[in-house]
This record gives sequence, C-alpha cells and structure tokens, in this order.
Amino acid sequence: MSDINNLISNYKRVRQKTINIANMFDQEDQLDQSMKDASPIIWHLGHTSWFFDNFVLKAYDKDYKKVPEKYYFFFNSYYQLAGKMLSRNRRGSDITLSLNEVSKYRNSIDDKILTFLSSKQEIKNDALKKIVLGLNHEQQHQELMIMDTKNLLFKKKKNIFTMIHIKAYKLTFISKYFRYFFRSCFIFRTHYVFSITFFIFKIVFITKIFK
Ligand SMILES: [Fe+2]
Repeated sequence: MSDINNLISNYKRVRQKTINIANMFDQEDQLDQSMKDASPIIWHLGHTSWFFDNFVLKAYDKDYKKVPEKYYFFFNSYYQLAGKMLSRNRRGSDITLSLNEVSKYRNSIDDKILTFLSSKQEIKNDALKKIVLGLNHEQQHQELMIMDTKNLLFKKKKNIFTMIHIKAYKLTFISKYFRYFFRSCFIFRTHYVFSITFFIFKIVFITKIFK
C-alpha cells in the first residue's frame, strides 16, 4: 500500500510541475506553435493526459468511459495502434479545444487516475508500471515544453528587436529630415545675410569710388 501512496504523491507532483511550466507563459503563448517541429503548450498538456487516458484507464479501469473522439485524435502523437492522429505541423492551427477545455480534460484524467489508484479494485502490476511510464513520459514532455517555447520566445524577442529597429530607423529619418530642414534654413539665412551685406558693401564701395 505504501508503494501506491508513493505513486499517488509522485503522480500529483509530476502532474503539477507540468502545470507550473505552462503557467510561466501567458494564454496566447500557450496556444502558439512557433514552427512545425515545435508543439504548442496546449498540445503537451493534452497529450500527457491522453497517455494516461489511453494506456492506463482505457486498458485497466473497469469503469472507463470514453471521451469525445477528437481528444484521441488531437492528442495522439505517433502511436499508430492507438488510432488516427493530427499531424504535428497542424497542432497549433487545428486543435479546436480551448485551454479551459484541455484543463478540464487534465483534471478529469487526474481524478480518474487517483480514484483508480485509491479504489478497492485489484490493480494489475502492468497498470502500475504504465502509470510510472506515463510519469516518465510526462517528464520528457516537460523538457520538450521548455525547448519548444525557447523557439517561440526567440521569435518574439526577434520581433521586439525588429520593432525597436524600425522605430529607431523612423527616429533617425525624422531627425535627419529636421536636421536637413534647419540646415537649409541656416544656409538660406546665411546666404541671404551675405548677399545683403555684399550688396551694401558693393554700393558703398562704388559710391566712394565714383564720388
Ligand atoms: Fe509523447
């Protein structure tokens, strides 16, 4: 029984860590797939829950109830035997579930796994091994979440630099324009002053000579 208790506390700890990683990003970033090889956070949240749903609950829980088919389709990665799956490059665009719905899915899987582990029904050793495997799988995905969002943040940072660059360019252009404008005024004014002075000087000189 203490093994089961350890597994329960381990389960809660690992599952919570995934949520902690997801919560480091705002909702918009959690939905964003920055490139075809990087999955959005919403997909990792769903996929790690699907693993327990498909490989533990469906296989070993006698009270198992199916979730809508789209959950299996969206969150299967490459397990051909588990059914059809959404291709990786469309995870950011084609998942029609909100973060709230995926969060509810996660919570329902947690409730079912914890109920399953605490229930009186005899739990096969294979089921326990699958839960441990699911936790190891989830920890791998925690690393992937960090890796995938690094690319997202790099792109965002690049966008910020591009914006700063454009603003700096505009400022330079405006300052150049004003500099040119004031310089023109100065040249014109200088030229005007010199012309008048020269004209007066010329008049004075001529009148003196021909006096
Ligand atoms: Fe996976």
